[in-house]
Amino acid sequence: MEITTPIQEKIEQLNEKFAAINQKTETHLEGLLWAKPITYWDYIQTDALLNLQIQRTTLPDEMVFIMYHQVNELLFKMILWEIEQLCHNEAPATPFFTERLMRISRYFDMLTTSFDIMGDGMEVEQYMKFRNTLTPASGFQSAQYRLIEFASTDLINLIDYRFRATIDRNTPYEHAFEHLYWQAAGKDHKTGEKSYLINAFEKKYKDEFLRWMEEYNTTNIWQKFKQLPAESQADPMLVKAMRHYDYTVNVTWVMGHLNAAKKYIESQDGPQEATGGSDWKKYMHPKYQRRIFFPELWSEEELRTWGENV
Ligand code: HEM
Repeated sequence: MEITTPIQEKIEQLNEKFAAINQKTETHLEGLLWAKPITYWDYIQTDALLNLQIQRTTLPDEMVFIMYHQVNELLFKMILWEIEQLCHNEAPATPFFTERLMRISRYFDMLTTSFDIMGDGMEVEQYMKFRNTLTPASGFQSAQYRLIEFASTDLINLIDYRFRATIDRNTPYEHAFEHLYWQAAGKDHKTGEKSYLINAFEKKYKDEFLRWMEEYNTTNIWQKFKQLPAESQADPMLVKAMRHYDYTVNVTWVMGHLNAAKKYIESQDGPQEATGGSDWKKYMHPKYQRRIFFPELWSEEELRTWGENV
């Protein structure tokens, strides 16, 4: 083979790359001789991925339940991947900010529009049987969902409304953590006792959550938006994208989820208990929960009627 100028240039670039890490180009070229050609299945790890669907019951629709949750977790990971790039960029330019926010929004749109897979895609009778085998696990224990919340907004917007006046930027994270809105779902609403569901969740993830709360205190999506130049913050397209993200996560998804939960849990006679022992219908409705990531981007009227008329 003739060593043309482009090949010579490539070799020089490789030399530079390997010299920088004290490596010999020749050894790496030799290694290429023995490297396996890449295949789709090795690269995508299809075998590993398709071996992660393990049923706990004999009911076929449990497979729909497992796989849809796994799809959700993969999309949560894609969302977090984009959020991290956006929020760890020292000074994101407006087009970059907008483009990344749209990526994040598209993933959440997909989660919202696909919720029928849960709502309509399982037989109620089967669900009512396998849910007992899965007790006391709950989607409430999705850690990535919480990480998305911490990374999207100021902590105060995730605090239970009843305690907001007592918490500010100087409150220790540990104390704020105990007053997050979702603590209410992990407590027996009559006795105030924490449930096994939340105790197990905290044992596994609390340390990581406290680290994220601190890390995103000044770098969450809202803070990054506030750091943009004033004219960018007033850009109608960007404001529309921010509002769309807020509404999709905190109203549209929440309603899709609540309607699916209602369909199944309300199908049974007697007490309609959720796994967490929460007053779930109230806890999960956006008009009571009123979780809003970017309250400054909504009018007084929009805030007052949040989650109503949906
Ligand atoms: C038939 C399907 C579903 C039902 C019946 C259902 C039911 C519930 C209930 C009753 C709760 C309240 C906490 C509790 O007491 O357990 C809850 C919380 C939650 N679920 Fe689901 N869920 C379903 C599907 C999903 C899916 C597909 C996801 C996606 C990961 C998910 C994620 C969550 C999250 C993140 C929470 C906590 C929400 C919050 O704190 O506001 N759920 N779910």
